[in-house]
Formats: sequence, C-alpha cells, structure tokens
Amino acid sequence: MGHPLHGENLLQRKGKTRMSIIKKIITFRPSFTLRILTGLIAMLVMLSVCTVVAISDQTGLNVRDTQFRARAVEAGAKVYSLQCARCHGAGGEGIEGLGPSLAAESFVGRRELEERPDGSVAYRVVAPSARMQQIGWGGTLEDYIIAVTSSGIPVRSSPVWDVNHPTFLDSLGGPLRPDQIRDVTAFIVNWSLKPLSDDQAVLPPAPGEGMAGRPTPVPLTEQQEAGKQVYLRAGCTACHAIRGVGNQGALGPSLSRIYTVATERIASEDYKQNLRDQPPAASPEEYIRQSILHPNAYIVPQCPQGPCVAGLMPQNYSQTLSPEDLDKLVDYLSTLR
Ligand code: HEC
Ligand code: HEC
Repeated sequence: MGHPLHGENLLQRKGKTRMSIIKKIITFRPSFTLRILTGLIAMLVMLSVCTVVAISDQTGLNVRDTQFRARAVEAGAKVYSLQCARCHGAGGEGIEGLGPSLAAESFVGRRELEERPDGSVAYRVVAPSARMQQIGWGGTLEDYIIAVTSSGIPVRSSPVWDVNHPTFLDSLGGPLRPDQIRDVTAFIVNWSLKPLSDDQAVLPPAPGEGMAGRPTPVPLTEQQEAGKQVYLRAGCTACHAIRGVGNQGALGPSLSRIYTVATERIASEDYKQNLRDQPPAASPEEYIRQSILHPNAYIVPQCPQGPCVAGLMPQNYSQTLSPEDLDKLVDYLSTLR
C-alpha cells in the first residue's frame, strides 16, 4: 500500500482533470449582473423565436379560417334542405306564395372569391344586395338573414305570401341552434358567387307595394275549366306546379305565371338562339303549345332543382292528348299571368 498518488497512471490523471473541469463548470458562480444579463438575452432569443413561429403560422391560421368557412357552408346546405327548401326552393329560386328567392342576385348581390397573399380566401363584393337598399336595412346581408331566420316574421308583410315566416331560433321556440343559423346564413351568402338572375327567381314585392290585395281571379270559362281538368288528368302535376292547383311538382318549371313567362321567353335571346327544329312561336299561346308538343325544341334554362334536363318531359303529348284537349289546356294555361 503506497501513497494514493503512487500507483496513479496517466489515464486516471486525465480523468481527474476532466472531472475538475466539469466540477468548475458546475460550481461556477458568475457575478449577479452577469446572471441577469444572460437571463435577459435568453428571454430575448426566445421571444424572437416565438414571433417568427407565430408569423409563419399566420398563413396556416388563415387557411384554417377559410376551411372553417367552407365547413360552415357545407353544414348550412344540410340545414337549408331540411328547413328552408320547402318554401324557398331547393336552389333558392323561391316558390310562388310560399317564399321569395334567396339566391337571386337582387337578394344576395354578387361577390367574388379573392385569394390574398397570405393564403386566405375572402369575398369581394362586386354588386351589393339591392334588396337591403330597397328595404333600408342598415346592417349587413348576413345580419338580415340571421335576424329574419332567428325570429321569423310575425306579421305577414304581404298577401302574396300564403304563410307566415316560422321562428327558427331554439331560445324562441324554434328548431335551430345559433350556430346552425350562422351556417345556413353562410350557405345562402355563398350563392352570391353564382347568383340566379332575377328573371329566374320569385322576387318579393317592394315594401308597401305588396300590401295591395291580390287581383280577384277572373272566373274561368267552361273551356278553361275543362283545360284545368286536362292539366290535372294528363300527369303534368307530377313535374309542374300551379299555385293552388293539385300536386306541386318540382321537376319542371312552375307554371303559375306561364303566360307572362311565355311572353318573356319568346322575346329572349336564349330562345332565339337555342330553339331547334321548330319555327319561333309568335305568341305566348303558341309558345305554350310548342312546349307541350315539342318539349325538346327549346330547353328552359332553370328548373327548381337546377338547370332543366332535356328529354325529361314526355315527348308524346301530340299522340296522348286529343286536339280538343290540347286547345282547352293551352287556353287554361294562358289564364296564368
Ligand atoms: C313555411 C315557409 C317558409 C320556411 C320553412 C322558411 N321561410 Fe323564409 N320566408 C318565407 C316567406 C313567406 C317569406 C316572406 C315573408 C314576408 O316578407 O312577409 C320569407 C322570407 C325570408 C327572408 C327574407 C327575404 C327577403 O327578400 O327579404 C329570409 C332571409 C328567409 N326567409 C330565410 C329563411 C331561412 C334561412 C329558412 C330556413 C332556415 C327559411 N327562410 C324558411 C317562408 C318560409
Ligand atoms: C316528367 C316531367 C314532366 C311532365 C310529366 C310534364 N313536364 Fe312540362 N316540362 C318538364 C321539364 C323538365 C321542362 C323544362 C325542360 C324543357 O324545356 O323541356 C318542362 C317545360 C314545360 C313548359 C315550358 C315552361 C317554361 O317555363 O317555359 C311547359 C309550358 C310545360 N312543360 C307544360 C307541361 C304540361 C301542360 C304538361 C302536361 C300535359 C307537362 N308539361 C308535363 C317536365 C315535365
């Protein structure tokens, strides 16, 4: 047994030196100021790292915000088809007597999607809602939709409507939560990207204007009354709707104002350019007759569920309807103005 240092080899000594360096580091006592300075610098470094991360994540946040809105539109579509379509039409075109169009340009205006440099997508208003100006609503279109949907319209604003507006907000006794009302609002506002033209939509009367009573219907002649029975018998109601008459089909256009519509159709560029294999109708009556006998000669652009489908309306009414029945039918339809 010698002195502890005696049998020490080089390796052990090296180890000792390393130990003492570590020890020095551990037991190092910097001055108070130095410690504060180090702390401050560390904090500054961390802060700037956080800022850089936050800025670069902003893009991610905006994209998430856009996705969030897209999800609201999607969820709103379901609410719409369950709660609103039966009165406002599957495509927001409106239904005579039941509800005005919510997809018409005069209601939603026209907007475009604009991609921002940060990756987010926002609406840009191209044309504001004419309806909001007409009724003097001071808030946004969104506010108006939420207000009407939430509380309903307790008093019918015009006799053109056969129904009162239901109340939808759950706290007022309705079936929808506030977030569902926001979703359906997002869905309706989204129509502004591709609004229906006003002539394809049931528009509400201007304030005051709608208070005039409906004109007393002129009683039908015997021939016209017989034409109404042909309409009911021939299966037209499976696809078409005439307000108050039989089943309200929604595959073909509403015929509630077909005489007026026919007048507009034959004057339209669309009719002049797209009519096939038939001479252009010279009067609304002729247009109605042509539509029944040759449905594919001219395809009406807009049907309740979207663009009209060619070949859907039966092509054989010239064989299944007698000439007399056809005359009566056209006579009856011509009373619908
Ligand atoms: C029972 C039929 C009915 C249902 C269901 C219905 N509405 Fe209506 N809606 C109407 C009628 C009728 C009007 C016009 C009322 C008036 O002006 O007096 C209207 C008007 C509106 C208006 C105002 C339109 C304008 O041009 O001023 C909005 C917005 C609206 N409805 C949203 C909705 C939404 C959203 C839903 C579904 C959650 C819905 N409605 C369900 C019948 C209905
Ligand atoms: C199976 C569905 C179906 C049946 C049944 C049907 N139609 Fe149609 N009808 C349509 C569709 C879809 C259109 C629009 C496409 C087109 O122009 O052919 C249309 C268009 C029309 C038009 C033109 C409307 C417009 O806005 O310009 C008239 C008028 C019409 N139908 C009358 C009738 C009459 C009357 C009957 C019964 C004798 C009838 N239809 C039966 C589906 C139908």
